[in-house]
Amino acid sequence: MNKPKILVARAIFPEITARLQQHFDVTSNLTDELWSKPQFIAQLQGKQGVFTAAREPIDADVLAACPDLKICASMAVGFNNFDIDAMTKAGVLATNAPDVLTETTADFGFALLMATARRIAESEHYLRAGKWIQWSHDQFAGRDIHGCILGILGMGRIGQGIAKRGAHGFGMKVIYHNRSRLDTTLEAQCKASYVSKQELLETADHLVLVLPYSPASHHTIGTAELALMKPTATLINIARGGIVDDAALAVALREKRIAAAGLDVYEGEPKVHPDLLTVPNVVLTPHIASSTFPTRLAMANLAADNLIAFFSGKDPLTPINNVQLAMKKEA
Ligand code: DGY
Repeated sequence: MNKPKILVARAIFPEITARLQQHFDVTSNLTDELWSKPQFIAQLQGKQGVFTAAREPIDADVLAACPDLKICASMAVGFNNFDIDAMTKAGVLATNAPDVLTETTADFGFALLMATARRIAESEHYLRAGKWIQWSHDQFAGRDIHGCILGILGMGRIGQGIAKRGAHGFGMKVIYHNRSRLDTTLEAQCKASYVSKQELLETADHLVLVLPYSPASHHTIGTAELALMKPTATLINIARGGIVDDAALAVALREKRIAAAGLDVYEGEPKVHPDLLTVPNVVLTPHIASSTFPTRLAMANLAADNLIAFFSGKDPLTPINNVQLAMKKEA
């Protein structure tokens, strides 16, 4: 029997490719070339499945041009590259990779918060540049973490992981804002109190963004929101580029309207707004919050599990939309 044809749109771990090859006729992007949309469409011709990361667009144009496609399995948890309505309309299943990256990403959010508040990157650059000639009383004086107010915008699984680290590990008071309030058990586990977005912005000493990107969350943090924050506050974005207006943030950092920022994601990444590259009070990392070997392997294995389950007529493990039953009949 012919194996289903799948495209693996990004370079992945060799053991995942080997696993997929047991089940599928696999076309791989071995050089990890960043395809344009027309190139991606050309590669998808005749493929029934695609393995993606967080960048490859699956929208109405791609779906119309690739009628054989039945499933798009992403190894990322965020799926703003998928037009879910268009996929559901076209009967194409979307899956993502939640849960397996929660703790690793929460660890990173906390690491970025600490590096930002305690000026670790800035002071390291200073030392490497040979500028350290003597100790002084206020050298790279930063902000405390312990005992401060941790604000979280977007209280899903990763937000809850960060809240627990702050509350239980560092004695922080945790406040959060979310589309919907957590139930009382979860709030107690996170030691977190629900507040309005305005109170969150005005009160947090450290504000961590963990909400999903959608047109509704575009520029959730811009000039007006930054103006509400304390001048001593830090802002951390581990969610998605576009949630923060990066140009407005660069101005706020340069003018010290907030103390510092830590960013792992950017509008239009991998490009970074040039003004962010020239302000000292920002820590910049290249979208690596989930990047540990065990976690990236688990994410890729989950995407592979979804493809294998789907083409074996089983329920996918982590579906985003609700077309799997219709497709199972046809697959
Ligand atoms: C995710 O899983 O969404 C991470 O941001 C990696 O892209």
